Formats: sequence, C-alpha cells, structure tokens
Amino acid sequence: MILSKKVINAQALERNEHLFKCPVCSAGMEIVEQSKMVCTENHSFDLSKAGYVNLSSHIHVTKYDKSLFSARKKVIDGGFFEPLLDYIYGAVLPQGSGTILDAGCGEGSQLAAILQRLPDDVTGVGIDLAKEGIATAAKEHPGNIWCVADLANCPFGDSVFNVILNVLSPANYAEFLRLLKSEGLFLKVIPGEDYLKELRAIFYDDPKGQKDSDHVMRFEQHFESVQTDRIAYEFPLDKELLAPLIRMTPLSWGASPEKLEQALSMDIPMITVDFTVMSGVKKK
Ligand SMILES: C[S@@+](CC[C@H](N)C(=O)[O-])C[C@H]1O[C@@H](n2cnc3c(N)ncnc32)[C@H](O)[C@@H]1O
Ligand SMILES: [Zn+2]
Repeated sequence: MILSKKVINAQALERNEHLFKCPVCSAGMEIVEQSKMVCTENHSFDLSKAGYVNLSSHIHVTKYDKSLFSARKKVIDGGFFEPLLDYIYGAVLPQGSGTILDAGCGEGSQLAAILQRLPDDVTGVGIDLAKEGIATAAKEHPGNIWCVADLANCPFGDSVFNVILNVLSPANYAEFLRLLKSEGLFLKVIPGEDYLKELRAIFYDDPKGQKDSDHVMRFEQHFESVQTDRIAYEFPLDKELLAPLIRMTPLSWGASPEKLEQALSMDIPMITVDFTVMSGVKKK
C-alpha cells in the first residue's frame, strides 16, 4: 500500500508525540486519528494536507516566502552547502542515535541531507516560523517531523534533544538550553565576514561582513567545550544559480533595484562561501 505524505508524516509525529508540549498551556500532546495534535487540556492543532503541524500561537508574515524557499532549495540542491553539511555530519555522528532539532530549518533540505547519512533510528525535527518553508519540507522530505513554530517558544518538553542545529537563523539560548539533553550538542552556523563577498561588494560597496566575535562570546557564555571552526570555500556558480542565489540571501534585501539589476547581469564564475561554526555542550 502506498501511504500519503500526510500519513507518513503523521506516523512520525505519533512515534514522537512524547517530545511535544502544548504551546498554549504546556500540557502533554498526542496525535488523534492522524489528523490533529491535541493536548490534555484540549487545545487542538490540525495537521496540514502535507502532514506538518502549525504550533505557532499567531500568524507571522515574514520575508521568507515561497519564491525565496524555492530559490534556496535550488541553490542547496546545486551543492552550495555541501562542505558545511559534511562538517555538520561529522560533528553530529558521534552523538549516536537520538533526536535532532533544526531550529530555523527553512525548507528542510539541510536537515534532510544530514539525516540521510545518519542511522535510520535518528529522528529529525525541523521547525521554522515560515509556513511556506515547512510546507515544502513536509512535501519534499516526508518521514520526519516538520512544525511551524517559534524558536523563542518551542513546543517541546525539557531535555528532549540530543542535538540542536541552528543554521543561519536567529538563536534563543534560553530555549535551546531548556530543550537540550545534558550531554547534548548545540551547533550554530553564522556567516563569516567573507560570505558572498562578491555580491556584498556590488550591493554595499563593502565586501566585508560583520565580525563574528560577539556571536562567539554569547555562545561561550552558555556552552562549554566550545569548538569554533571556519568553513570557507569557493563555490563554482553555474549561470542559472546566480538569480536564485541573489533571491535566497537576506543580503539582497537592503540593495537598491539598480544594484540588484547590476548583480543579476554579472558573470560571477566563483562565489566565496564562508561560515563560522560553533559547537558546544551545556555548562554543568
Ligand atoms: C537564512 S534562513 C536559514 C534557513 C535554513 N537554516 C538554511 O540555512 O537554508 C533563516 C530562517 O530562520 C527562520 N526564522 C526567523 N525567526 C524565527 C523564529 N523566531 N522561529 C523560527 N524560525 C525563525 C526564517 O523563517 C528562515 O527560514
Ligand atoms: Zn494546551
């Protein structure tokens, strides 16, 4: 029998309902008839047609819309993040089986790519405030858990995750510390100062991004055994990936229409990718 994506995703939720707490009253939750998630106080959240659940308490309008996620998916499928994903895989593997949260997962390709390489008994949970991202994730990568949720008010119990990933997304340290098991790993990726410097040079006449020392300091306040690495490489940019790359990056949000036009007509055979990756465990 071929199961629908909704059923496959509902089954993943059912197997893992113990992870959840109600975003309204913090009570435990269960999946009812593979169609909704209900807490013991009767707050109820329907599963979508694709099988994700929206546990966000209010509607958020964000700049992350369908076209941005479709651009992001094209670029990711083109191998843009491959060296970064290799690094994350290497960092996560020693944690063994368990549950991984991707907080601010976007359209889910990064978490899906990492899960594909990990043992089958690893459970993946992706949350994002942008419904369009989660809808794409649930359709493209069924069998994992995809939720619309605010990472500042995560709908999960305490100490339930072995790993939390936070890639190019905002962090909420209080929530991440609450959610992480005592030996669990937190890994945060931020853009390095040379990230997409060729585009930055066109948009802002200044190729250098922000220094990452503040991020590292904040990270070290909350975590120990901190490892900080730089993952930098040149990505060969096929002509057809230039427009999606410009569309996907928040760097382009502040650029004038003229600068955008100029960037779109450029020939950029190689683009600089530069990340700082911080990882650590909870302070005892
Ligand atoms: C630059 S994207 C990164 C997405 C994905 N990790 C990637 O690298 O492709 C930032 C993401 O953070 C999400 N985001 C921003 N604030 C959030 C919040 N409070 N809770 C959950 N997600 C949030 C956005 O919706 C967006 O998908
Ligand atoms: Zn409730």
